[in-house]
Amino acid sequence: MYFSKIIATGACVPDMIVTNDDLAKIVDTNDEWISSRSGIKRRHFSKGENTSDIATGVAKELIQKAGIDPLDIDLIIVASVSADYTTPSTACLVQGNIGAVNAVAFDVGAACSGFIFGLSIADKYIKSGVYKNAIVIGAEVLSKYLDFEDRGTCVLFGDGAAGVFVERTEERTGLLAEEMGSDGAKGMALTGGHSPAGNAFNDVTRQAKRELYMDGRAIFDFATRTVPKSVKSLMEKAGVTVDDLDFVLPHQANSRIVEIISRKLKIPMDKFYMNMDEYGNTSSASIPIALNEMVEKGIIKEGSVGVLTGFGAGLTWGSMLIKF
Ligand code: UT7
Repeated sequence: MYFSKIIATGACVPDMIVTNDDLAKIVDTNDEWISSRSGIKRRHFSKGENTSDIATGVAKELIQKAGIDPLDIDLIIVASVSADYTTPSTACLVQGNIGAVNAVAFDVGAACSGFIFGLSIADKYIKSGVYKNAIVIGAEVLSKYLDFEDRGTCVLFGDGAAGVFVERTEERTGLLAEEMGSDGAKGMALTGGHSPAGNAFNDVTRQAKRELYMDGRAIFDFATRTVPKSVKSLMEKAGVTVDDLDFVLPHQANSRIVEIISRKLKIPMDKFYMNMDEYGNTSSASIPIALNEMVEKGIIKEGSVGVLTGFGAGLTWGSMLIKF
């Protein structure tokens, strides 16, 4: 039986840092409100880099760290809801930029759960023997979708990209168990990039409202209800207890959500990793950015076992047990 071993992690975030005080100059908000309600203090915003640019930065770092020839890459998956174009996919743009001419490349759109969904797909290709390796990236330039007059959303999100290089192994490692779900009936609680069906023969306006809209309270309730259930069911399925976990890495949306998840699961906060203070909510990039940081800080080492859990627009959620 094959498993997908995580060989390398990498990240690429825009240089420009925007603090809560910077935002307070353009919208009616303040540092105290943003940090006490969300845990966010700063975020990185694009200076002009688009999603494929930062995703390419990640791919190059993964190639270098894994010591892989781009010609040997089998699969490139980019999870994103903020692609440069509707087509070509961001994954195809990355493939072109790195010269991975033998790879199959496509995008996955599952918002803040996107990296989890993407890694799950890559794992299935590897487990089934179809491909021997994959690059999986979460990449977002969400700032281009923010309504800077809506203080309820523009203070929460940030831009960034990160990912992993995974490779086939017969050792029992990598993705060991997963639990995922979707609830499309509640999808209107978090929308963005609407594209109306106007054409030359109907009277539908093509004028789109691209900006993100979020019913924050509804998403907060969804996350604090669904994530604990998802993680609990994952742990039962995998037969692991809290003591078996070295870390829990949740999607970096809000520190209050993480505290509630910790309480409901009876998993102490010191097992949870958070860095939303530095990056804000980068949707599909939030889990891999944090994962890369944990590896770089030595929090995750060879043999570490933990849970990744994502949740967000769609609505979607996904938790996975991984071993490094
Ligand atoms: O990545 C996926 C998903 N996204 C999330 O997980 C986000 C989930 N939701 C949340 O994190 C929280 O709901 C928020 C951080 C978005 C909001 O926190 P809240 O405690 O639910 O606040 P609220 O929306 O109920 O707003 C409370 C007050 C309101 O004022 P009034 O009506 O009580 O006078 C808002 O107008 O805070 C006001 N407010 C702000 N004040 C200063 C909303 N945004 C701001 C702001 N600065 N930026």
